[in-house]
Amino acid sequence: MASKAKITGVSHYVPPKVLTNKDFEKMVDTTDEWIITRTGIKERHILEDGKGSSYMGAFAAKRALEEAGVSPEEIEMIVVATVTPDMMFPNTACLIQDQIGAKNAWGVDVNGACSGFIYATAMATQFIETGRHKKVLVVGADKMSAITDYTDRNTCVLFGDAAGAIVLEPSEDPELGIIDYILRSDGSGGKYLYQLGGGSLHPASHETVDKKMHYIYQDGRTVFKYAVAGMADITEEIVKKHHIDSKDIKMLIPHQANMRIIDATARRLKLDPEKVLINIHKYGNTTAATIPMGLSEVYQDGKLQKGDTVLFAAFGAGFTFGSMLLRWAI
Ligand code: ACO
Repeated sequence: MASKAKITGVSHYVPPKVLTNKDFEKMVDTTDEWIITRTGIKERHILEDGKGSSYMGAFAAKRALEEAGVSPEEIEMIVVATVTPDMMFPNTACLIQDQIGAKNAWGVDVNGACSGFIYATAMATQFIETGRHKKVLVVGADKMSAITDYTDRNTCVLFGDAAGAIVLEPSEDPELGIIDYILRSDGSGGKYLYQLGGGSLHPASHETVDKKMHYIYQDGRTVFKYAVAGMADITEEIVKKHHIDSKDIKMLIPHQANMRIIDATARRLKLDPEKVLINIHKYGNTTAATIPMGLSEVYQDGKLQKGDTVLFAAFGAGFTFGSMLLRWAI
């Protein structure tokens, strides 16, 4: 019988430089109070100039490999979720492969925005479940500061930079590991959250720069409406499909875009607050990094025991959304 994929190592990286809400009060027309009450964010970390997402991803990956006791040479495949690759090509997976010395791996990037890590992990599990690969690295890394307009108060307060990484290996026990996932897209939502410039439709030009087309645009109110329903619905769906009672869930690790979106999902599942990972106040929205970073923090805090039921949930640009059910295996 095919093996499940289990997480055998997890880690994260956060750059040292911090931007607080007070800093933003000096940059745009906003207040600490507005940002906290509307989003839950207090501060976020920003990667220095001259470094890209691969730097953070490689850092997190090295630590995750150490946690798993796996050498870089043993890795066969690297999947990187990111919307802020260092460059259009080569892909971030190749850059990370080189930086960590995973010379026997092939690699690919996945652009699923805030759902990217769930998408990437779901794809990676296939290679484990079919027996094709035995050791796969999945990274979520985003330098959101690279595409943030720090004169636009609607978006600049929301995002931060970080990376998280996991190592996947076959699970000997079919009850442990990544049990299931639900993945969806709704492309009709693309018009509410995007970065227009730099692709083949609007290649970089003086005009795209002048029109600020290389920055994130978000119709926050509309995205919020879809995200609140979308993330709660897809998480409830996987819980119901597997007949899981809320008391049997050890941790929900949701994408960290807005405290109110997380609360809506937790309420729908009737989860006690201590079962919901929240770190948005420290990091803001780090896109593909939020879930592996949250998992890494929960694991480092010693909150996970073998057999614990863990849920991932995400909603983001695309629209993309997804949920994942796992039973902790180490
Ligand atoms: N400080 C002060 N006022 C602000 C700020 C700010 N930083 N930002 C916006 N405002 C103002 C707006 O201009 C607006 O003013 P107006 O009424 O005069 O036009 C007012 O505050 C209310 O704006 P809303 O957009 O209604 O505020 P809302 O409560 O919806 O919060 C937010 C905005 C935080 C962006 C919220 O809508 C949200 O979280 N949206 C979803 C984000 C999300 O999930 N994104 C998906 C993932 S991201 C990805 O995939 C890359």
